[in-house]
Amino acid sequence: MANTRKRSPRNRTLMVSPDERPWLLSKLTVQRPKTPLAAPAEGTILGDFRDWVGLLPRNHVDLLFLDPPYNLDKEFNGRRFSRKDVGEYTAWLDGIIALLLPLLKPTATVYICGDWLTSVSVFSAASRHLTVRNRISWEREKGRGAKRNWKNASEDIWYCTVSEEYTFNVDAVKLRRKVLAPYTDSSGSPKDWVRSHNGGYRDTHPSNLWTDITIPFWSMPENTNHPTQKSEKLLAKLILASSNPGDFVLDPFLGSGTTSVVAKKLGRRFLGIECDETYALLAAKRLEMAESEKGIQGFSDGVFWERNTLALQRDKTKPSLAERVLF
Ligand SMILES: C[S@@+](CC[C@H](N)C(=O)[O-])C[C@H]1O[C@@H](n2cnc3c(N)ncnc32)[C@H](O)[C@@H]1O
Repeated sequence: MANTRKRSPRNRTLMVSPDERPWLLSKLTVQRPKTPLAAPAEGTILGDFRDWVGLLPRNHVDLLFLDPPYNLDKEFNGRRFSRKDVGEYTAWLDGIIALLLPLLKPTATVYICGDWLTSVSVFSAASRHLTVRNRISWEREKGRGAKRNWKNASEDIWYCTVSEEYTFNVDAVKLRRKVLAPYTDSSGSPKDWVRSHNGGYRDTHPSNLWTDITIPFWSMPENTNHPTQKSEKLLAKLILASSNPGDFVLDPFLGSGTTSVVAKKLGRRFLGIECDETYALLAAKRLEMAESEKGIQGFSDGVFWERNTLALQRDKTKPSLAERVLF
């Protein structure tokens, strides 16, 4: 039956129309090559990443982003992921990390996403193969309220590296915050903050508690119908911190394409693999749009802004990069 529900004019959710499908399908890599690839082309592979790992070059990836299905009963466009017991999920994840490990450079970084339940598995599996450096807790705000439990409104992103030698560009991911206690020195000049006519602000070290990122929703231009889409701002922080321009970013659970889109916008090379055609087409569409649209919501002028700072972001008196006070 045709969907007769009217879409709100402010609903910007991206979709792939039947007319666009053949064109976008032509952008996907579908056929497996007969021999391993020396340097894979940038883009999106439609397939199961486990069938492709052996065809990808070893020692090639600078940044691996793993956003696997969490240990929940969940439908991904008709493909069902069924909840396993914790030991089984840990073994499943362990197998995935072991499979992908040969693709990584010795200087590579790996981020692995999870929720409260899978985090125990992520730590256990990751620490067998990698150095686990931190766990970022992301308050994603939205979540279904529960009558007999606490609402689940956070996720974890585990930060791991292959070795002691790794990239961490701390200055690229500082958070711009409004100054609540604007101290001045004896001459009346700001101490460790910058004055603007909307108030003062300072750029602060990025912590492992992220409260400035929402999950994409219907009025955001990056939003799709993917059930577990990550936001571009979240990926931008990870990619800027843990890779340099020209580095190679791999996402074998690409979903709607967020990792590749952000890698492209930030001048990194990228490859994403997604087994579902509808999602892979969405990724292809977003990558086409990223040819001209380089903006990342919540990241402007090379700065991440905390929530509710729109007035500050629009402030025309804000200083240049060189004038910022960093501490
Ligand atoms: C949690 S979602 C990733 C969402 C993604 N980060 C985004 O921003 O849209 C996991 C995705 O991995 C895909 N997937 C699951 N198993 C896969 C496999 N073996 N090979 C490739 N893709 C797979 C699912 O179809 C799903 O879209």
